[in-house]
Amino acid sequence: MRILIIGADGQLGTDLVKVIPKEEQIPLTIKNIDITNREITLQEIKNHQPDIVINTAAHNHVDKCEEEFALAFEINTYGVKYLAEACKATNSCLVHISTDYVFDGKKGKPYVETDQPNPQSIYAISKYAGEQIVKYSLDKYFIIRSTGLYGTAGCLGKGGTNFVESILKLAATQPELKVVTDEILSPTYTLDLAKQIYELVKTNKYGLYHAVSHGSCSWYDFAVKIFELLGRKIKITKTTAAELKAAAKRPGYSALKNAALEKISLDKMRPWQEALKAYLIEKGYLKPA
Ligand SMILES: NC(=O)c1ccc[n+]([C@@H]2O[C@H](COP(=O)([O-])OP(=O)(O)OC[C@H]3O[C@@H](n4cnc5c(N)ncnc54)[C@H](OP(=O)(O)O)[C@@H]3O)[C@@H](O)[C@H]2O)c1
Repeated sequence: MRILIIGADGQLGTDLVKVIPKEEQIPLTIKNIDITNREITLQEIKNHQPDIVINTAAHNHVDKCEEEFALAFEINTYGVKYLAEACKATNSCLVHISTDYVFDGKKGKPYVETDQPNPQSIYAISKYAGEQIVKYSLDKYFIIRSTGLYGTAGCLGKGGTNFVESILKLAATQPELKVVTDEILSPTYTLDLAKQIYELVKTNKYGLYHAVSHGSCSWYDFAVKIFELLGRKIKITKTTAAELKAAAKRPGYSALKNAALEKISLDKMRPWQEALKAYLIEKGYLKPA
């Protein structure tokens, strides 16, 4: 099996490169393939003739997408269209990574794949349009939605950081941290997600999947758990999304349930608390027990 990875130096891409056997992978970065360039995208995929293309590329700075809406659609929608065209031409399966932000957050309990999206920001609209393009264009596809990603490489689209690293950096300089309680999600370790993606794409059970660490918490709960696991006492106060005045609207509740993975007995994810501990150990912040 030949698996082409787009965005191979990104947060999830780096862990896909770790997980997929070397002889099976074709890791490409934006230097090799810029998916907003239709000609290059078609040519590059044709040159490699992969069985599977995993697209991790995105404009995923949610607030910047409000201003940079053209770029958001170029990468998150048009780029996906070009990839779908290329996959059709080479008969490759397209694996497209999407987001919990396609939902409006009003459900109040974990979203399953059959729930109706209602995106609330430019980022979310452009990602949902990308999903629709994949579904419309191809039979052989996996759309995999995840939430609140953190991995050792950090999110390139957010300045090479993630929530865990940002909160640790803030704690080093500020006596008190303010973290939101009204955004509930399922924070997910990209190493676990990469393993789950590799397991899934080896099957031909195409379709839409949610793949997240089990359970849910607010960003506040997540921050508290980070310092609890590290055995550090930090003052963390509760705040709200409204108080932070972010440019983009985010769903208040966007925890996902891996219902489709469960249905095919392929849910390999673990509880978010265990995954967080594994990340802290991997980063060397915590000693293995
Ligand atoms: N981060 C999250 O919390 C989160 C949550 C839910 C879903 N997701 C989704 O998960 C996926 C992976 O996220 P991530 O955290 O791994 O993001 P990331 O670290 O920003 O990685 C994205 C990768 O795509 C590359 N890229 C950007 N524009 C490109 C283009 N036009 N052509 C080709 N490559 C391009 C980036 O390279 P450069 O930086 O060099 O441009 C980077 O290597 C994305 O689809 C995102 O929407 C993320």
